Amino acid sequence: MRLAIFGDVVGRTGRKAVAEHLPGLRGRLALDFVVVNAENAANGFGITRGTAEDLFDAGADALTLGNHAWDQAEALTLLDNDSRLIRPANYPQDLPIPGKGANLFHTADGRSVLVTNLMGRLYMDPLDDPFVAAERELSAAPLGQVADAVIVDFHGEATSEKTAMGFFCDGRASVVVGTHTHVPTSDHRILPGGTAYITDLGMTGDYDSIIGMDKEEPLRRFTTRLRSGRFTPAEGEATLSGLFVETDDRTGLATRCEPIRVGGLLSQVVPDL
Ligand code: FE2
Repeated sequence: MRLAIFGDVVGRTGRKAVAEHLPGLRGRLALDFVVVNAENAANGFGITRGTAEDLFDAGADALTLGNHAWDQAEALTLLDNDSRLIRPANYPQDLPIPGKGANLFHTADGRSVLVTNLMGRLYMDPLDDPFVAAERELSAAPLGQVADAVIVDFHGEATSEKTAMGFFCDGRASVVVGTHTHVPTSDHRILPGGTAYITDLGMTGDYDSIIGMDKEEPLRRFTTRLRSGRFTPAEGEATLSGLFVETDDRTGLATRCEPIRVGGLLSQVVPDL
């Protein structure tokens, strides 16, 4: 199966990059399933019905989220009504959190893809143990038995915690991607057990910015310790940034993984098929 997962779409320019480039990439790379992290899609903070529709219309099959999942009030009902949106699975199980932390999708030709979203605990809001939640979701739809492919989006700040999650899932997921830091890492590889891994996909946003936001206010806060305005998404041309993964249909494990970067400031790369 051919999969692509794209990093955190930031604001209007991020959505525009997805709309401009994803339809062509779906054909060029013969993609069977596409996941987009959308937790910053609505003006940099959260997701709305309209911004989700923009991404689905462009060719996303599933949208994952993260710490900004609830920034827009309408997300509370949106997540209960559309199972294509996946929020972190490691919210406390006894709280009435809307939506689902994992979903088993079916492609047009009948293959099944498990998508789960988890959030790290290092330098993040406290949540339940993401490793316990990963264990629960992976064992509910074992790769190669119930799921033809398993995609894990681990939304976290610390590279150590994200790498640990990669090895924790190795051999049981097709791919584990890190999101949230908005800067792409160059450590994409296939782990010994056959799981494709990258510490961070990078954002789909304008890189002439401070992780997607206009530079002025973050710089002011760093240099003066004072807040004097809101963070606003940068609006220059975005780079669509993500990972292409090919899997073995017999096992669901990865046989190939390569970065994708199209548009905007970063160096351009699209896998050659
Ligand atoms: Fe985030």
